[in-house]
Amino acid sequence: MVDQTKDESSNVEEHSILIVDDLSSNIKLLARYLEDYKLYFALEGERALAIAEEYQPDIILLDVMMPEMDGYEVCRRLKENSKTVDIPVVFVTARSRDDEEEEGLQAGAIDFIAKPVNGAVLRARLRSHLELKEHRDNLTGLLQRREEELGATYQQLLHSEKLSEIGKLTSSISHEFSSPLLGIEQILKGFLADEEPGSAKSELLDVCVSECVRLRELIRTLQKFGRRSTAVFAPTDLNHIISDVLKLSSKHLERQGVNVVFTQGNISKVNAVEDQMKQVMFNLFTNAGDAMVPEGGILTIVTHEQDGQVLLMVQDNGCGIPHDKLGSVFAPFYTTKEAGEGTGLGLSNCYGIIIRHHGMIHVESEEGRGSLFTVELPCITDDDSFNESK
Ligand SMILES: Nc1ncnc2c1ncn2[C@@H]1O[C@H](COP(=O)(O)OP(=O)(O)O)[C@@H](O)[C@H]1O
Ligand SMILES: [Mg+2]
Repeated sequence: MVDQTKDESSNVEEHSILIVDDLSSNIKLLARYLEDYKLYFALEGERALAIAEEYQPDIILLDVMMPEMDGYEVCRRLKENSKTVDIPVVFVTARSRDDEEEEGLQAGAIDFIAKPVNGAVLRARLRSHLELKEHRDNLTGLLQRREEELGATYQQLLHSEKLSEIGKLTSSISHEFSSPLLGIEQILKGFLADEEPGSAKSELLDVCVSECVRLRELIRTLQKFGRRSTAVFAPTDLNHIISDVLKLSSKHLERQGVNVVFTQGNISKVNAVEDQMKQVMFNLFTNAGDAMVPEGGILTIVTHEQDGQVLLMVQDNGCGIPHDKLGSVFAPFYTTKEAGEGTGLGLSNCYGIIIRHHGMIHVESEEGRGSLFTVELPCITDDDSFNESK
């Protein structure tokens, strides 16, 4: 008899229903009509709320007249809880006065089924509610994914916008600064030449000259920052770039007590601007070295190819980055270094360069244990090298 009411089309076994009624005979009857669904039961309101929260049924069949807490109250409380608000509630009731139906709908129910319950009607109504819920869930999931994608794109856009604005600003300011600074440096050098070497005045002038040199260096960094490179993209071997940069930085790293372990993978070339790639490596290695001061440590560099991407991993066992600061390290001017030791422009520069190379850079870190920066760049495809050679 029950079988006649079954519909073959829906995947009922995937859906779950919570039946709430203070009479176990009513529950048994409904359960017979719905035996091919996954079923949960509750004989009173509090228990129903707990089951709904824990098992998240797809729909709730709720008796209106119950001692302690009636169906309306259960429904209101389900709708107040963010974990159960989206579960559709259908009242099963012997009462059929319009004002009572209105109260049920106000409490958040989506439908009423009258007692005595007709099995075929019950199944048909539930099936359409379940289908609706499935569509709604799918849409919500889709919407959530789109929102996340949009959020990530927006963040990236915001970042590049910030970079280009700051780039424009800094290049105009540094341009204003560099000529007068060079003039001052020349004049100071002139004075210095007239002084007795080793005298107090000459030492003071020496300091002034080296401060001018330091400021010019800083201005050079600022000018490079954010400027769109006109340099040419060419097939580039990252292993060569890394070896070159290590030759340059090895003395400094040695002084910092850093041992370098470089494991060269068998990697394809990437389409890159060589000097920009060098800048990225230099920044990453310098930061790693700085993070290991004063104890020193190990700088591990690994290159590797995977799924059409060249991966570069730069790992140190230095101070690490606090969890809540991980989102800030690529932002311009974020630095934890003393004034004069860091500009806070290194990583945002790296970020800009890697994005322009259609790659990705990200960081994992644990405070007190060290950091791992990973750069991903697309390998050159046959098409790229064909275009390149034309
Ligand atoms: N390998 C690292 N380990 C720990 N902290 C790091 C590391 N690399 C970068 N950081 C943090 O990110 C900040 C920004 O780095 P960066 O943009 O290169 O600027 P700067 O080196 O001039 O401070 C650093 O001051 C430091 O706090
Ligand atoms: Mg740096």
